[in-house]
Amino acid sequence: MPGCGLARGRATAHISPARRKVHPRGLSRVATKVKIVIAITGASGALYAQRLLDRLDPAAHDVHVVMSQYAQQVMGEEMPEGLQFKPGVTRHNVKSMNAPFASGSNPADVMVIIPCTMGTLGRIAHGCSSDLLLRAADVMLKERKKLILVPRETPLSLVHVRNFELLLLAGAILLPANPSFYTRPQTVIEVVDTVVARVLDQMGITNTAAPRWREEPE
Ligand SMILES: Cc1cc2nc3c(=O)[nH]c(=O)nc-3n(C[C@H](O)[C@H](O)[C@H](O)COP(=O)(O)O)c2cc1C
Repeated sequence: MPGCGLARGRATAHISPARRKVHPRGLSRVATKVKIVIAITGASGALYAQRLLDRLDPAAHDVHVVMSQYAQQVMGEEMPEGLQFKPGVTRHNVKSMNAPFASGSNPADVMVIIPCTMGTLGRIAHGCSSDLLLRAADVMLKERKKLILVPRETPLSLVHVRNFELLLLAGAILLPANPSFYTRPQTVIEVVDTVVARVLDQMGITNTAAPRWREEPE
C-alpha cells in the first residue's frame, strides 16, 4: 500500500535490538513486522480511529485492536455501521489479558489510544491496569516503548492537565485531537486526516494522509 512504508531511522528507533538485523555495512533493518496496538476508547471521534486503521497495512505491520466497553457505545452514536477492519487485523477482548502485549516480555513497538477519554488517560496516569487496554498502556510506559495518546475533551480541568503532565513525565506522547485548517480541508474526513497524519508521523509511518505546510499536493 503506497504511503505506508516505515520512515527510515525514526521508525526503527523504538524496536528492540533483538528484533533488528544488522546489515553487513553496519546499517540495521527490521527483521520482523512492527507490532502496533490501536486502542479505541469512549471519547468522541471514532472516525479518527477508522481513518488511522485505513492507513495501516496488516501485510506490512502486525496490527492489533482493542476497544473499551464505552467505545462500543460512542461508536453506536457516531458510526452506526461500525468500524471497518482490514483482513489481517487482530482484535482483542478488553476483558481478557490473553494478548501478547499484556506482558512486558512481549510488548508492542508502538501503541496509539485514539480517541482517548479523560477517564482512560487518568487511569493510565495513575497506574491502574484493570483491563487489557490499560495494562497494555502500562506495559508501554514501563518498557519505555512509544505510547501515543490522542485525547479528546474540552474544556479541560486541572485534573486533566495534571494527568497530562504525569504522562508526559512518564514518557508518553500526547497528541490532542486538534485538527488544523491551514491546508484548507474541504470535508470532515480531510479535517480528521490532519490529525491522523500527525499520529502516523509520530508512529514513524511514512504517509501522505494530509498535505504538509508549503508542500505541493501529490
Ligand atoms: C456520545 C458520548 C461522547 C463522549 N465523548 C467524550 C469525550 O470526547 N471525551 C471524554 O473524555 N469522554 C467522553 N465521553 C464519556 C466517556 O465515554 C466515559 O467517561 C466513559 O466512562 C469512558 O470510558 P473509557 O475510558 O473506558 O472508554 C463520551 C460519552 C458519550 C456517551
